[in-house]
Formats: sequence, structure tokens, C-alpha cells
Amino acid sequence: MGKAELTRRTMLAGMGGSVAATFAATGIAAAAEDSVHDSRAQDLLRRMTTEEKLGQLQQLTWNGDTGPGGGQNAEVERRARDGRLGSVLNIYGAANTNALQRIAVEESRLGIPLIFGFDIIHGFWTTFPIPLAQAASFDPAVAVSDAAVSAKEGRSNGVHWTFAPMMDVTREPRWGRIAEGSGEDPYLAARFAAEKTRGYQGSDLAAADRVAACAKHFVAYGGAEGGRDYNTVDVSESRLRNLYLPPFQAAVAAGAATVMASFNTVSGVPGHGNAHTLTEILKRQWRFGGFVVGDYTGVREMIKHGFAEDDADAARLALNAGVDMEMVSTTLSDHGRELLAAGRINPRRLDDAVARVLRLKFRLGLFDRPYVDEKAEIPGPADPARAASRAAGARSMVLLKNDRAVLPLRRPFGSIAVVGPFADSPDLHGTWAGPGKKFPAVTVLQGVRAAAGQAVVRHARGVDPEGKDGSGIGEAVAAARASDVTVVVVGEPSNFSGEAKSRSDIGLPGVQPELIRAIARTGKPFAVVLVNGRPLSIGGWLDAAPAVLEAWHPGIEGGNAIADVLFGAVNPGGKLPVSFPRAAGQLPIHYNHENTGRPYDPNDPYSSYYLDLPNGPQFPFGHGLSYTTFDVGAPALGRDRVSVRELRGGGTVEVRVPVTNTGDRDGDEVVQLYLHDRVASIVQPVRKLRGFQRVTLRAGERAEVRFALTGEDFGFWTNRPEGEFVIEPGAVDLYVGNNSEGGHKVTVTLT
Ligand code: NOJ
Repeated sequence: MGKAELTRRTMLAGMGGSVAATFAATGIAAAAEDSVHDSRAQDLLRRMTTEEKLGQLQQLTWNGDTGPGGGQNAEVERRARDGRLGSVLNIYGAANTNALQRIAVEESRLGIPLIFGFDIIHGFWTTFPIPLAQAASFDPAVAVSDAAVSAKEGRSNGVHWTFAPMMDVTREPRWGRIAEGSGEDPYLAARFAAEKTRGYQGSDLAAADRVAACAKHFVAYGGAEGGRDYNTVDVSESRLRNLYLPPFQAAVAAGAATVMASFNTVSGVPGHGNAHTLTEILKRQWRFGGFVVGDYTGVREMIKHGFAEDDADAARLALNAGVDMEMVSTTLSDHGRELLAAGRINPRRLDDAVARVLRLKFRLGLFDRPYVDEKAEIPGPADPARAASRAAGARSMVLLKNDRAVLPLRRPFGSIAVVGPFADSPDLHGTWAGPGKKFPAVTVLQGVRAAAGQAVVRHARGVDPEGKDGSGIGEAVAAARASDVTVVVVGEPSNFSGEAKSRSDIGLPGVQPELIRAIARTGKPFAVVLVNGRPLSIGGWLDAAPAVLEAWHPGIEGGNAIADVLFGAVNPGGKLPVSFPRAAGQLPIHYNHENTGRPYDPNDPYSSYYLDLPNGPQFPFGHGLSYTTFDVGAPALGRDRVSVRELRGGGTVEVRVPVTNTGDRDGDEVVQLYLHDRVASIVQPVRKLRGFQRVTLRAGERAEVRFALTGEDFGFWTNRPEGEFVIEPGAVDLYVGNNSEGGHKVTVTLT
């Protein structure tokens, strides 16, 4: 890629503009979009009964096992017929959705279509790498390719709305849902959230290959104490705004049609009853014109939280706080009428919620074309979709370690052993495989066989993913001894990450580490491939392994994508979107921490550290190697002084970074720009990512990457509840490099 192109791409990718300008642009865009549909929605509203209005705010789940008319589905159909249902989740298939839609459209009094929602998180039929892996690509285009394929497959199957992207920033690898998001960094997460939202929605939600997006979970869900899912979150206003909110703000600015409330409390107030986050911030400050859906029974769960007295109280709290549609629990449709009569909910707020839902139905074109074309239904993963997933999988992998250049596997060699519990396992889809699960993923063994040409390929499973039985290790060792090189594929089953899948020990499960050590003792070259949904603590065996490739859960084409990287058809260029801890006892560990008054100092026993661990992570955020080498050079600043006033007015500081491929292979590097505000009225992170660019350079090629830092990059949110974004004068250090440690430093002075 040439220099000019790099520059252009950088400028396009930049966030640009002040925070205030972002708000304004969002508001204008939303207003223009909404006005087109609002009059139709208002017209309809005037004709609706209270029951019908409350019905629009109700979402129920379909049970795919019982089919039409069976079990709870009878209730879904009855409500649809009575005009007392707005949405259904977990239904898909053109014929299925059309049959249910026909009841709503042709048998209910007003014929208002249903909106069908579904969790298409990283693929519908064609699973892509898990979102955490996608973030590791440091290339939002990867998420866009997933979103585009997902939207097309989903919509052709009658799904109008995906509950994605998930954008919960988290510092908790114990939390299984780390797999669904973009990791620990708010800037990276924001870039992915915005691009993926656009990828799902395109420019026209009524198009046959687009779905409405849902920014979730609002908000701070990733802060779960102890990494245990659904757990309490207590967060200051500044941390809320600087850490958890940026991806949501970016998604809303990108036009996200809906937002989902989160299960957790935010400083004592459940996400579903939180007027500060839902109404004050999201709807007032950000002027969000779409609707807020509750999470699964989340409204009713406010009773167990100890926040609502009973169902009626939960309904009141949720609607008043800003929830517009209730998922699965039925508190609002059961009690709305009495709450209105008692003056405990406001009829204008009810109409506002209904109008928000109706507007999206108009935007999706559901009133004009309520049914999906059954002949155009996509029945499974098509070849181009598989190819996109394979490319995304390979682009998301991170080469953690590669001593003695074990990788790439160089032809010609006579034989290769592929061992380990995931060597021939189709369990590579990842946590939210959904309907795509019925198509087995390509295994690593299959991928290696397809790529290995004439080489003899041996296989032994060795051990199970879990359990203590090491009796198969001998067979794996024999395969390794007989082969020139060995690939050990270890990791976590897909169901070890995702919702409600928290772990206290984040090492490799079972006796997998023993398998690695046994292979190491053969003295033959080998590489470890990790397939997993979270950062793992790997320090116990890392020294024994010369090479480690982090492949995550790579999706349906996983085995091929892994083989692409192992054999060097793809030179890995991914970077960690989250720190790899040395041990779970270090958690939370993240690069963007604040300094204590006693930052770690090896010569000071009264500084901040653990007695029993080296300081810092096993691998830092942003780390990832390549089969070639790069030099990220010293940055040049457009200027080293800038006034706060200028930044507020849209001024920028340009940073130009030379990057050279110093090796003998073409490859990718991610140039990363971090910033540290040395002295501020609220203690600032020692570094925060404010720019990145993945570049492809031929062997020996040099390029320049440009970043334009804005007021948004230099400033931060304070603790004022009404939301105060400040840019303060003083020295700001910039670091550029290829991970979150080290790199070149330059200083900009804000006056
Ligand atoms: C609960 C999960 O928290 C949410 O992410 C998901 O979209 C809903 N269930 C619907 O399946």
C-alpha cells in the first residue's frame, strides 16, 4: 500500500471533530431520519387503544422446538392476533416468520407488523471469529464483513433486528462475555462498535440485506465484580463516561437503531431502572431517537435486585427510566393500564415509547413489505461468506511468541503431527454460534491436511479438553516423535465463554498443559495453537513452547484459517485487544490503569506490586508478532504546542509516524498511538489508545501513517453527573509503537 493511500485511510478512519460536534451531528441525523417516519407513527398512535400501545412494548420469545401453536407459541400467536405484541425474538426462517407475521398483519385490528429480533452476534449461518477475535484484527473492516454477511443471511431468514454489536468494555477475563465484545479499551471498542453498527444497518434499513442493530448492554455490564456474570457494578461518573460509555456514544452516532439495557446495577441502580443512563445520558444528552429494549426478563429482575416491590413497580420504574420495550417478562403489558389510571406512569411517556418502536418498524419498511421472500431465503453458508469468514479468522489471529522462527511451517517437510483436544474438533464456532452450529466448523486437522501437500499428517487427540485423564498423552508424544514438526491445538470449549460462563481459574482446562510439556520434552520443534474465548493465563507452560498462535474461536472456517497462518499463506498481524494476565490473582490488569502514589518501583519495597508475581501482564494490550519484522520510527508532530481554545474549536495536532518492514516477507503491522495527560484534575490513565492503523507493507517497504488528534483525544469526562468534558492545559506525552509498552515518546503542550 502506498503512502498516499495510507494517509487517506488514516484520515477517513480518524474520529475527528469535538465531542460537542458529535452530539450535534447525531441529533441532526436522528431528527432528519425520524421526521420521515414520525408522522406515520403519530397517525397510527392516535388510532391505538391503550392495550394496543402496551402491546407494542412487549417482546416475547418463540420456542423453535414446539413450532406454531405449541406451548408458549400459542400465547405469542394469541397476542399477535389481539394486537398486543410488538416483537418476537428467537424466531427465524422465511416461512416461520411469515406465518407469524401474517397473524399480526392480517388478523389484528390495526395490522401492525411484528419486528423479529435475534442474537446474530458473530454470524447467522456463517460463523465468523468471536467479536473479541475480530477486535484483535485492529481492523474494523473485519467486523464490517461479519456484519454484512450476518445481515444478509439473517434478513433473508426473516430476522429484522440483531441484538448486536455487543460493546461492553471489560477488564475481566474471568467474565465469559468478554468473548462477545472488543476487550479492554474504550477507543478500540468504539471504533468497532461504530463500524459494525454501520455494517449491519447499511444506509437503508428497508433493504433486503440489512438489519437493525442493537448497542448492548447499556451500561457498564463489563464491570461485573469478580468477573461473575450479572454481578454488581459500582462506578464513578468519570469512569462511566470515559471507560464504558464511549462505544455506545459512537454506536449511537453511527445510527444504531436500538439499545439494550443491562442486567447489572450501576452504582446501586439496575440498568433497567436507571433514568440517569437511559434517559438523561442516552436520550437527552445524546438525543437517541431509537428505542431501548430491556434484556431477557431484566425488567422483572429489578424485584430480585431489591429495587422494585413487585411487577407493577418494576414496570413503572422501567418505563419511567427509559426502557421502551420489555423482553419476555410482561410487567408493563400486565400492569400498564392500572399504572396509567393511578397516574404512576405518564401517557406521554407511553406514547413516546410506542412511537419509538413504530418509527423503527417504518424505517425497516415492515408496513410496506411485512413478509420476506421465501424463495430468496439463504439456506446455509455460501462460498463467498465462508471465504469472508476464513479471511476474517486469519486476520484476527495473534502470534504471541515465535522463538527460533518455528512458524511458519516451511515446506518441504516430510511429516507433521497435529495433536491435542481441539486438533480435530469442530468446536471452533465460538459462543454465539446460533443456527450456524448445525454446520460443522472445519477442523485444524482438515485445514492442515488440505494445506500440507504431500506431507504425512499424523493425528492424536492426547487429552480431553477437560478432566484429568492423561493416558492418551503417550500416543500424542509418539506422533510428535515420528514427525518433523508438531502443532498442538489446545484451548477452551466454546461453552466456556459467553453468557453465564464465568471462570475463576483462567488457565487451560484439564491436563492440557501436561500435554504441551510432554511434547516439549520430545525436543522436536512444535507450535501451540490456542482456541479460546478469553485471555488465558499461560505462564505455567509458556516457556516450554517455542511458538504460540492465539487463534481464538475462529468460526466455521477455523481450521482453514489456522492453516493459512501456520503455513504462512497469511502472515499474522493481529494484536491483543486485552492484556494477558500472568495469573487470575492479578485481575483486573489492564494497560490503561491509573498510577498510584507509589507506582511499581523494583527498588522500593513499599511500591505497588505483588510479592509472588513479576509486575505487569504476561503479554500487554496491543502485543502481536509477525513473520517479518517492523520498525515503528520516531513520530513527527505537526506542532508541539496547541491551545485548548483551538482544540475546542476543532483544531488538531498531526502526528506522522514512519513504519518500515525490516524483514524479508510482506506483512502487516498495527501502528499504535497512545496518550498520557501528565497532570490533570482527575488522575488520568498512564496511557490511553487514541489512534491505530493496520498497514500492509512489502518486504523492505516504508510508509508513513498519519493521525490527527482532536480535542476529543486530549480531553476527558469529569465526575459531574450532568456530563462535563474538559480539555486541560499542560503536558501530554504521546507514545507510538506496536504495543502498549515502550515505543517512541514525544510531548505536546496544551496552553
Ligand atoms: C440475554 C443476553 O444478555 C442478551 O445479550 C441477549 O441479546 C438476550 N438474552 C436475548 O437472547
